[in-house]
Amino acid sequence: MKLTIFGTGYVGLVQAAVMAEVGHDVLCMDIDQAKIEQLQQGQVGIYEPGLAELVREGVAAGHLRFTHDVAEAVQHGAVQFIAVGTPPGPDGGADLSGVFAVAEGIARHRSEPVIIVEKSTVPVGTGDRLKAHIEAQLAHSGKRLEFTIVSNPEFLKEGSALNDCRRPDRIILGGEDEAALDLMREIYAPFNRNHDRILCMNLRSAELTKYAANCMLATKISFINQIAELAENLGADIEAIRKGIGADPRIGYHFIYPGCGYGGSCFPKDIKALIHTAQEAGCGSDLLQAVEAVNERQKRKLFQRIHAYYQGDLKGRTFALWGLAFKPNTDDMRDAPSRELMESLWAAGAKVRAYDPEAMAEAQRIYGHDERLALMGTPEAVLPGADALVICTEWQVFKAPDFELIKRQLRAPVIFDGRNLYDPQRLARKGIHYFAIGRGESL
Ligand code: UGA
Repeated sequence: MKLTIFGTGYVGLVQAAVMAEVGHDVLCMDIDQAKIEQLQQGQVGIYEPGLAELVREGVAAGHLRFTHDVAEAVQHGAVQFIAVGTPPGPDGGADLSGVFAVAEGIARHRSEPVIIVEKSTVPVGTGDRLKAHIEAQLAHSGKRLEFTIVSNPEFLKEGSALNDCRRPDRIILGGEDEAALDLMREIYAPFNRNHDRILCMNLRSAELTKYAANCMLATKISFINQIAELAENLGADIEAIRKGIGADPRIGYHFIYPGCGYGGSCFPKDIKALIHTAQEAGCGSDLLQAVEAVNERQKRKLFQRIHAYYQGDLKGRTFALWGLAFKPNTDDMRDAPSRELMESLWAAGAKVRAYDPEAMAEAQRIYGHDERLALMGTPEAVLPGADALVICTEWQVFKAPDFELIKRQLRAPVIFDGRNLYDPQRLARKGIHYFAIGRGESL
């Protein structure tokens, strides 16, 4: 099947590579010409395990191609996926200019029938707005085009994106046109093994399913973080509580890890967008607002703890930092808790020496000009002479460190851990001052 994918970010590129892998004829389009030229040479600018290899395989097999030419892209696919960015606008609502620009391109250059698929996360009602927009454009130009809109939200997680796309939990298809939904079923047939994972619903339900999923997950995190705060103040241990509640299958062990706040390109943006949608619809958004407020607080927690420990005297101190990415197995630093922490430390007159297994180039790109940040090549290299070690991301490589070395290298044996990687009692026995999330010592 001939497919066009607009946008070569995480969602678009992963989708394209996986669709090409199962034999579809995929053409990707992006307005960023430099990116397209790199991709044509098999260079993938984002870190995602296995993605660069899969893209190169797809290109070599002739199933995956890249173009900067809108007309060529629009003429290619019987099905066209819109996977461009939808960043938050100034009022918290999603900025849909990229999505509408693609739709305009389709209206202008397409004459064969086409299915337009919303793959980007877009507010409820966008499908209907896109339809009206394209119809108006066609009426204006006097052109005829047979088109239909399908919502097919993406549920991949950065770091395990290929696996999530190859073996999806569910494939959501929203639309009113049965023939279009049947064609979508055919496209997804290779991913629909063992039992039927395809759920068809109306357009608006599919659009809202995406937000509901992310906001539910964010709610779980803010919930456990709020309980962690309580635990800390009441002399309870959140790790015991997490296991205790997780044992109930209605709650489950997944996605209830306390930490220094959720980040990334999705949860913060999607919570804001759904609050905005609810307000526009005249509906309550109080729970969602609370989820966001708890997370904002949580992202400041590490800094507040450090500030309290040193009684506000942070000027001239240096902090060793492990983990810059918003979570492990990605180089993505969008809305990462590490950024809030570093920026607060700098504002208080401190310096940071940081290490991350994958996000060093990204940190260099964002903060390279700032001499208050030193980026080091190994986890150990950040330690010598630092006042304390701070952990923001639970990379595997940080989980079993040489504590004797840490003690020897730091100016004083102090660790502020935003991801609860270690056993507080064990560290206390080693003579390390250890501050985790929701585990005993509160500051
Ligand atoms: C998230 C969703 O999990 C995907 O299903 C969805 O497709 C994606 O957003 C999207 O909308 O595109 P992602 O942003 O890659 O995926 O990251 P997650 O693994 O969900 O983690 C989000 C944040 O929550 C991270 O900062 C992580 O550290 C934090 N987190 C996660 C916790 O603090 N505790 C947990 O128990 C789990």
